[in-house]
Amino acid sequence: MNIILLGNPGSGKGTQAKVLSQKFGLFHVSTGDIFREELSKKTPLGQEVAGYLSAGRLVPDKLVLEVLKSRLAKETRGLLFDGFPRTVEQAEGLDAWFDSRKAAIDAVIFINVSETEVAKRLGDRRTCEGCGKIYNIGTQPPQKPDVCDACGKKLLTRDDDKPGVILKRLQVYKDQTEPLLAYYRASGSFYEADGGQAPESVTAKIVAMLNGK
Ligand code: AP5
Ligand code: MG
Repeated sequence: MNIILLGNPGSGKGTQAKVLSQKFGLFHVSTGDIFREELSKKTPLGQEVAGYLSAGRLVPDKLVLEVLKSRLAKETRGLLFDGFPRTVEQAEGLDAWFDSRKAAIDAVIFINVSETEVAKRLGDRRTCEGCGKIYNIGTQPPQKPDVCDACGKKLLTRDDDKPGVILKRLQVYKDQTEPLLAYYRASGSFYEADGGQAPESVTAKIVAMLNGK
């Protein structure tokens, strides 16, 4: 099974992807996580993408597609994409890649959350520097402040979760990623989940949709 999670920054793609990938035995592909990892290791790729991430702009399509193709070349598990594709050009690149592997996308799930809600969530997000677990100081706080419940490492605020950059990311989503909704709606495997509910309810809805396929 190959799945794409679409949605605004802060809609809960990462939160849902962690649970769904475990439940369905899928490989979780987060382009944002890949870029942040390269950035923290100060690799040439990390240096190339740094300016885009800190400004909330998209990394160029050609580079994103190259990175993904090389990372996924030997992967045989089903894939769960989180934060990719983000432009029609990336979606077309992904379609061509699946065609070349005689595989296909089984479901595109749009997690629908209002802009006001996501802007608040992003300001309150904390992420574990060790295992990547995602928290929210308002709605999903850790037991001890700034310490990960799962691995005990420190919780960090993402550099792009500053008010100005959040606004820019929301605008970029509207301009460049929202057109994907029409692209995938026409594909016949498009599903929409109300992402404004509690994370467990959103998961339950998505699981029911996938099991009903
Ligand atoms: P990326 O890392 O993909 O960021 P994003 O799309 O902006 O999405 P987020 O990770 O911010 O949000 P999310 O939907 O995962 O929400 P989360 O689960 O964390 O990309 C970062 C940057 O990398 C981009 O700006 C770009 O520069 C570059 N990039 C990445 N991919 C690219 C691509 N394909 N092409 C070009 N450039 C690319 O949840 C958010 C918060 O809400 C958390 O605090 C969480 O606890 C909370 N929460 C989650 N669900 C709920 C719920 N149901 N109720 C209440 N709170 C909730
Ligand atoms: Mg994410």
